[in-house]
Amino acid sequence: MPDTVLIIDFGSQVTQLIARRVREHGVHAEIVPYNKSEEALERLKPRAIILSGGPSSVYWDEAPAAPVAVYTCGLPVLGICYGNQTMVAQLGGRVEGGHAAEFGRAEIEVIDDCPLFEGFWPKGTRDHVWMSHGDKITSLPEGFRAVAVSNNAPYAVIANDAKRHYGVLFHPEVVHSPRGAALLGAFVHKIAGLDRDWTMQHFRTAEIARIRARVGRSKVICGVSGGVDSTVAAKLIHEAIGDQLTCIFVDNGLLRNGEAREVVDLFRGASNIPLIHVDASERFLIALDGVIDPEAKRKTIGRVFIDVFEAEARKLGDAEFLAQGTLYPDVIESVSFTGGPSVTIKSHHNVGGLPAAMQLKLLEPLRELFKDEVRALGRELGLPAHFIGRQPFPGPGLAIRIPGAITADKLDTLRKADAIFLDEIRQAGLYDTIWQSFAVLLPVRTVGVMGDGRTYDHVCALRAVTSTDGMTADYFPFDHAILGRTATRIINEVKGINRVVYDITSKPPGTIEWE
Ligand code: XMP
Repeated sequence: MPDTVLIIDFGSQVTQLIARRVREHGVHAEIVPYNKSEEALERLKPRAIILSGGPSSVYWDEAPAAPVAVYTCGLPVLGICYGNQTMVAQLGGRVEGGHAAEFGRAEIEVIDDCPLFEGFWPKGTRDHVWMSHGDKITSLPEGFRAVAVSNNAPYAVIANDAKRHYGVLFHPEVVHSPRGAALLGAFVHKIAGLDRDWTMQHFRTAEIARIRARVGRSKVICGVSGGVDSTVAAKLIHEAIGDQLTCIFVDNGLLRNGEAREVVDLFRGASNIPLIHVDASERFLIALDGVIDPEAKRKTIGRVFIDVFEAEARKLGDAEFLAQGTLYPDVIESVSFTGGPSVTIKSHHNVGGLPAAMQLKLLEPLRELFKDEVRALGRELGLPAHFIGRQPFPGPGLAIRIPGAITADKLDTLRKADAIFLDEIRQAGLYDTIWQSFAVLLPVRTVGVMGDGRTYDHVCALRAVTSTDGMTADYFPFDHAILGRTATRIINEVKGINRVVYDITSKPPGTIEWE
């Protein structure tokens, strides 16, 4: 087990970023909700503690607080925003509301040297940070000194060097605090003395040993879709247990041009991973016949997938484990202060429904990793770079890029248009800059003129967005020449499309996919 930084979560929107930044410094970090942190202190035996931000105020009734042991166990502690305020309040200082709030970009001035700033912020430095707080510290606990101030906060950064307790009012984990990553690096390396021992090479060796110990001589099945997560999981497990692993690729016929072939080649080619390729396109098409509602499409695809997968798995007989490419963001328990379930915008289909029905044990070797770490692990395992860098593709595939009923002809038309768009993007060298780019085939027909004849064909919409996590997105500002070239090629080369439009909606209010 590598040295771990325990991140105690008080419900900030950006707590995950703290873990990512710490891991970028080669140090393992885990997030635990504040009300389970006492147990986590025992279990994880962390070497340092970070208290996250959160939406509460320390003077509220039943405001969340850190366990007292956090401050008495002798470990270094870094409080961020609310985490800083609760530390101050719990150790005898004062935090008050009703003062001028600071949201967004703010300037701080370093008024004293501090180990947190070593090497980049000497005394007298002024720099920008990202603040998001309405409360203010008005007196410090014993043993603390102010080391930085902002316009509205006399205690923007505070330090108790003897106890190695530090607090920042701003958010060092967001990119809008340009020196934030350096500050977190100073905390874990210089103050906590932790080495860079969290690398994908170490993870690979440790996880392989763990998989071998858990699986023994049993058999494992793994559903693969051609996505990065399931492929990396399969490759890692194959390295651990060889042919005790069988992968099942349910080809739903909703993939892009040439994609099914690529998946098969990737597994059966150099990797030599046992793969069952089930071409279930017909079955999916029949089940989707006349289905128009987007959620009904997702549910139909999910149901057929489970049926096909289960039937294949049963043929294999004696598998004991089901492997999945579940990632850390899916397993972090989040603290909800808003209460009540959030609305379902779209139900994402994955393999989640399987184990209950099949009584298989779950094997999730990536459940400790963030997406960028999975990519790094994929590179470490020797997967091709163009595969690792692929844009995300939704489980229901092209079905949610054809509003209205799906037919084989429409899928064929969309595949051709989509391939042209991606080809133009690759040629322009933009593929890696764009989060997702794809074509959508609209059920709308418009009149056109080609040669001397009238056409009455379908509209194709192009969608390309920038994003960091798919939660928010903006349309990609193409040079018009690229859009023009793409439109001309699609109309000339793809039968059935006579008009091309570009979608310039951001998310929110739009979503990335059209359905
Ligand atoms: P939206 O359209 O909700 O998409 O803005 C956000 C991200 O999720 C992907 N997406 C899906 N992925 N099953 C998936 O596995 C789904 O049903 C699904 N719907 C959307 C979408 O491609 C984007 O990356």
